[in-house]
Amino acid sequence: MAVDDGNDTDQKTRYICLFRNRGKVKALAEKLYEQKCLDLDKEFEIHFGIAHTRWATHGVPNEVNSHPHRSDKSNEFVVVHNGIITNYKDLRKFLESKNYVFESETDTEVIPKLTKYLYDNRENEDIGFSALVERVVQQLEGAFALVFKSRHFPGEAVATRRGSPLLIGIRSKNRLFTDQIPILYQAHKNNKNDPISKAHKIEHEDFKFPGEDKTVEFYFASDASAIIEHTNKVIFLEDDDIAAVVDGCLSIHRAERSVGDSASRTIHTLQIELQQIMKGNFKAFMQKEIFEQPESIVNTLRGRVNFTNSTVMLGGLRDHVKEIKRCRRLLLIGCGTSYHAAVATRQILEELTELPVMVELASDFLDRSTPVFRDDVCFFISQSGETADSLMALRYCKDRGALTVGITNTVGSSISRETDCGIHINAGPEIGVASTKAYTSQFVSLIMFGLMMSEDRISMQERRKDIIAGLQFLPDLIKEVLSLDEKIQQLAQELFQHKSLLVMGRGYHYATCLEGALKIKEITYMHSEGILAGELKHGPLALVDKLMPVIMIVMKDSCYTKCQNAMQQVAARQGRPIVLCAKNDEESTKFAYRTIEVPHSVDCLQGILTVIPLQLLSFHLAVLRGYDVDFPRNLAKSVTVE
Ligand code: M6R
Repeated sequence: MAVDDGNDTDQKTRYICLFRNRGKVKALAEKLYEQKCLDLDKEFEIHFGIAHTRWATHGVPNEVNSHPHRSDKSNEFVVVHNGIITNYKDLRKFLESKNYVFESETDTEVIPKLTKYLYDNRENEDIGFSALVERVVQQLEGAFALVFKSRHFPGEAVATRRGSPLLIGIRSKNRLFTDQIPILYQAHKNNKNDPISKAHKIEHEDFKFPGEDKTVEFYFASDASAIIEHTNKVIFLEDDDIAAVVDGCLSIHRAERSVGDSASRTIHTLQIELQQIMKGNFKAFMQKEIFEQPESIVNTLRGRVNFTNSTVMLGGLRDHVKEIKRCRRLLLIGCGTSYHAAVATRQILEELTELPVMVELASDFLDRSTPVFRDDVCFFISQSGETADSLMALRYCKDRGALTVGITNTVGSSISRETDCGIHINAGPEIGVASTKAYTSQFVSLIMFGLMMSEDRISMQERRKDIIAGLQFLPDLIKEVLSLDEKIQQLAQELFQHKSLLVMGRGYHYATCLEGALKIKEITYMHSEGILAGELKHGPLALVDKLMPVIMIVMKDSCYTKCQNAMQQVAARQGRPIVLCAKNDEESTKFAYRTIEVPHSVDCLQGILTVIPLQLLSFHLAVLRGYDVDFPRNLAKSVTVE
């Protein structure tokens, strides 16, 4: 969220902002500027604004529940929060007993009020802002990324995190002398009169500058894509880090140092280009991301697959392959679309690795307290790398001694940092809430893993060669599928007023059914269900009549005949199947009310070509129904709360 673009300020002005989501927050920030929460601190030549696009975990989305929240009517302390405070009821009860009056229904409001309470009851007049924040967060349970400001500490910003992502962007026209910022432990920070040593903060002298321009801007954000238009220099904060900007200088504090902790934080240079997160000529980020798939797949494969000698090398797993080969079983864990990538590749992974493969929804996995052993290998699949349930499942598996592997799209994310090893899927930034290109890149990454695991199996050489050749042609075949866009748009015209849409298939395409139905319900708000065709007679057939649209995926693989049977059963109930089949499959088109024909690929890669028409269909349905494709109601891009 851009609070200010800096054009109308003097050269030494510094900004500190909280970003989460570029589009929506900008408007919100402008509004806040007119209201209570963005002040211009002229005394220190510092501009400091905070705002947040809130995901309504507690209380409806309205003005009173929106952030920042405040300690009192005179805004002594104001706070923005991403995450969830699970013990807020107890804290609220306590604060109400001390005569604090709450304005909102949120969990967040306890934070500024608790800050004021601890400040008013401080035993030491000279307590510093970060020491105060440290005391506040000691009382909080749950997941949070927080930014605080206060009238008692003008010109200061304090930010901290536990369980929710938080990064700091640094922008200056000049080059930084250092790419490390040392952590400051305990002593200095408790007292506001304690100077922080030069070595422990970043200020304008740290930037080489030929001219007089000493401007430094700091941005606090949950996600790099929110700030990339301003800077590509970022520090990823760790849980319990407390970052403070005082008089325009940044320092990072921690209460104590544990064994194995790094004593500094690195300033990373991100490779994301602004252009990658611009919509260009597309109507929505989702549409752009669907059309990027020929390139995103090339990027996922780049430098990893040797098409000449049919080998695969995943650098992030190289040192662990031996250990993985000795494991008892593979567990693939994720949520939503990322879980579907696991379902899509389970069969081929079982075939190539000859290991038992379990696929698990992270939330259910935790609810069941699933047994996990030291000789298990657990994969955490996550576009954002920040999904709370997946992250907690990761910690659960680590505690039980399993080897943990991350499959993420976000460099520096919690999952990529906390896993033992992993694959970065390289799909490029995905902005649309509906995940598209991340799914196909996760799919390809898991297949590459299977190929790497089966390299020395003589019996699998032919199969491996076919799959590797299939990977090489995939980007061109994806382009061919994308050229069906107009036809799919026409189909959407026929379907958009329906209430419900069923998607049926089996084998390699069950995942496509689940993923297609998720895309449809997520952005069109139509009821949609992915159904395993083998289950048709066990219940879903009752839904079929001449009015119910049913998309049926019938590909020429080992399930072909069974899928045709299912199609005949639907046709016999006067259903009108919309058949997604291989090009020139005359047999399957016989019973079809409409057909979408996709090019043929290797069976285990075909799911990439069947999911794209459903991505396109959901997009067109949502547009025709008049919905905001990129920001579906009630959903967030990163689900950082349980
Ligand atoms: O960032 P993650 O891949 O961990 O996110 C998991 C799900 O929240 C996500 O895939 C969600 O289902 C998508 N919005 C679906 O399009």
